[in-house]
Amino acid sequence: LRGRSLSVTSLSGLPQWEVEELPIEDLLLFEVAWEVTNKVGGIYTVIQTKAKTTADEWGDNYFLIGPYFEHNMKTQVEQCEPVNDAVRRAMDSMNKHGCQVHFGRWLIEGSPYVVLFDIGYSAWNLDRWKGDLWEACSVGIPYHDREANDMLIFGSLTAWFLKEVTDNADGKHVIAQFHEWQAGTGLILSRARKLPIATIFTTHATLLGRYLCAANIDFYNHLDKFNIDKEAGERQIYHRYCMERASVHCAHVFTTVSEITAIEAEHMLKRKPDVVTPNGLNVKKFSAVHEFQNLHAMYKARIQDFVRGHFYGHLDFDLEKTLFLFIAGRYEFSNKGADIFLEALSRLNFLLRVHKSDVTVVVFFIMPAKTNNFNVETLKGQAVRKQLWDIAHSVKEKFGKKLYDALLRGEIPDMDNILDRDDITIMKRAIFSTQRQSLPPVTTHNMIDDSTDPILSTIRRIGLFNSRTDRVKVILHPEFLSSTSPLLPMDYEEFVRGCHLGVFPSYYEPWGYTPAECTVMGIPSVTTNLSGFGCFMQEHVADPTAYGIYIVDRRFRSPDDSCNQLTQFLYGFCKQSRRQRIIQRNRTERLSDLLDWRYLGRYYQHARYLTLSRAFPDKFHMEPTSPPTTEGFKYPRPSSVPPSPSGSQVSSPQSSDVEDEEEDARYNEEEEAERDRLNIKSPFSPGRVPRGKKKLHGEYKN
Ligand code: UDP
Ligand code: G6P
Ligand code: GLC
Repeated sequence: LRGRSLSVTSLSGLPQWEVEELPIEDLLLFEVAWEVTNKVGGIYTVIQTKAKTTADEWGDNYFLIGPYFEHNMKTQVEQCEPVNDAVRRAMDSMNKHGCQVHFGRWLIEGSPYVVLFDIGYSAWNLDRWKGDLWEACSVGIPYHDREANDMLIFGSLTAWFLKEVTDNADGKHVIAQFHEWQAGTGLILSRARKLPIATIFTTHATLLGRYLCAANIDFYNHLDKFNIDKEAGERQIYHRYCMERASVHCAHVFTTVSEITAIEAEHMLKRKPDVVTPNGLNVKKFSAVHEFQNLHAMYKARIQDFVRGHFYGHLDFDLEKTLFLFIAGRYEFSNKGADIFLEALSRLNFLLRVHKSDVTVVVFFIMPAKTNNFNVETLKGQAVRKQLWDIAHSVKEKFGKKLYDALLRGEIPDMDNILDRDDITIMKRAIFSTQRQSLPPVTTHNMIDDSTDPILSTIRRIGLFNSRTDRVKVILHPEFLSSTSPLLPMDYEEFVRGCHLGVFPSYYEPWGYTPAECTVMGIPSVTTNLSGFGCFMQEHVADPTAYGIYIVDRRFRSPDDSCNQLTQFLYGFCKQSRRQRIIQRNRTERLSDLLDWRYLGRYYQHARYLTLSRAFPDKFHMEPTSPPTTEGFKYPRPSSVPPSPSGSQVSSPQSSDVEDEEEDARYNEEEEAERDRLNIKSPFSPGRVPRGKKKLHGEYKN
């Protein structure tokens, strides 16, 4: 095997870094995660968006390992036979011994190979595998924890598979990267069985951190004071915590997604991560730079249509002066900051009312909860809108025909008689049908736990009921978005593009993809200095607010002060003119190179090299190197921002109140020119791909 070979790469403005070249043809790389082809939250996004860069580097020697679910396989995976001999033999052997292992190409960019294990099919082995785990690390799993039992089956199958692969690897060295505690038992068992593999464990959160924060404990000021064994025991997650901690300590290399989670891991898992691997996205540039602005306008129109239906009979606000805000993610009420967001909305409502603002704010909460489907009132709203549209359309047709006939006769039609009685009757009846006795609903679905649901309970407490006088309206959509929804047929990306501001004031957020996704789509967002993403942006952008990244201080301020700061951000945002919003979106989008896997992928490359050098020191010699760093680099303040801050809106683009479309277009062009100027100097210019890789195309198009 080749030893270590270094190539020095530099992007102007950034410190140079060394890229360790790996003899890919002599290696096999496996990445194991419960969210491979199986969407739960952000780990799916990590794996799915990174696939392209990793597959480009590793080609046919890269495999993802995950659980098999029939629906996911049918909709996302093209079944095929493995070309790799070791993988094929491993699968054959397991299938012969009572397992069901599926193989195929995941139909995402990069089309990586996936190996999927049917968990239920192998459940008959559970008791034996519990014994194996006990022998390996003295961790027992109670029978009633279904999820942990499934993870043990998943891990046991993974370790079995890796054993078969290494037996047949024909001299190739194997790297296996395990994501999160759910995949961890595969690592523990592989190490206990002394398999010749180089392992990485990546945590995307700590179990205890998530639990303690959700319990509203002052977590960050007490990090070093918790009796962690006791805390885990009291929360009845002791066995899961042991699985997680054992995985961390068994790994050759331990990584996590942000500096803040690295500190947390040191305290909650008692190991300092070797490498921090910030999460990237698959960013694609449009050839016309302002295309993302057009997309915003296009998808906003779709959201406006939904809002027309939802607020039928109450549409006394101007949709052209209505801003769409949203929060989205797994339903962790306080961890995701939905609590402080609602409180801030109540204060914003007050401010907009007392200042007699003509702006209306419609806020969407996209957080999945248990429901009994859509509620009737919500569906009716869309039906009413459709009916009005149809009537307007048919009357317009008749009107148009009469007008045309009259013009052909050389006459101006008699406007008083151009609509006949029937048309007027139909229209009057349609208007009557839009009368409603109730207020527009605050939720789109019938909630199973309606009376105890935290969002609904808070809405009741603060009285944000979508009444006519409210300037802030709320809509809880307790389901992830989908383009096949009969109610709001948009996928998440389209919805984000159509909104004005994403609001993610999280208290517990190891990374936080949602604001990062907004950024690469050119949509401003609110994040916090307790989220990995927020801290990363604070480190790399001189004036984040100017770029449309509002970072709420939840670390050094009281909850009330943080809430006030959030309210000020929101109020300031509402005061911007359309032109200012357009400029701000242009700036936001400029940051997307910083979040591109083509740039951030090198932290994964480094972790892989490090694990090889630790697992196979004879083959992969390396002097200790520190992980790649971007220290010292910051995106400069945009040139149009005044040099010294003088108020809460300091960073908003400066402008007068011109608001017509021509102005919009002109500003798009000016921004484009500014971007071109800046891009020459940009350290993250997309053309500059390390190690001569070809340009990549991805999911997020800008
Ligand atoms: N998301 C989605 N559909 C939705 C709302 C959110 O697919 O309707 C995705 C979003 O794109 C993001 C992920 O859910 O990638 C949430 O990841 P994040 O890191 O923000 O939080 P996590 O759930 O992992 O804690
Ligand atoms: C984009 C479009 C413009 C449109 C604007 C609306 O920039 O290119 O044509 O006027 O969006 O912005 P707003 O913030 O009011 O939704
Ligand atoms: C976890 C975290 C989230 C992070 C994601 C991907 O689920 O809660 O903050 O973005 O993993 O790393």
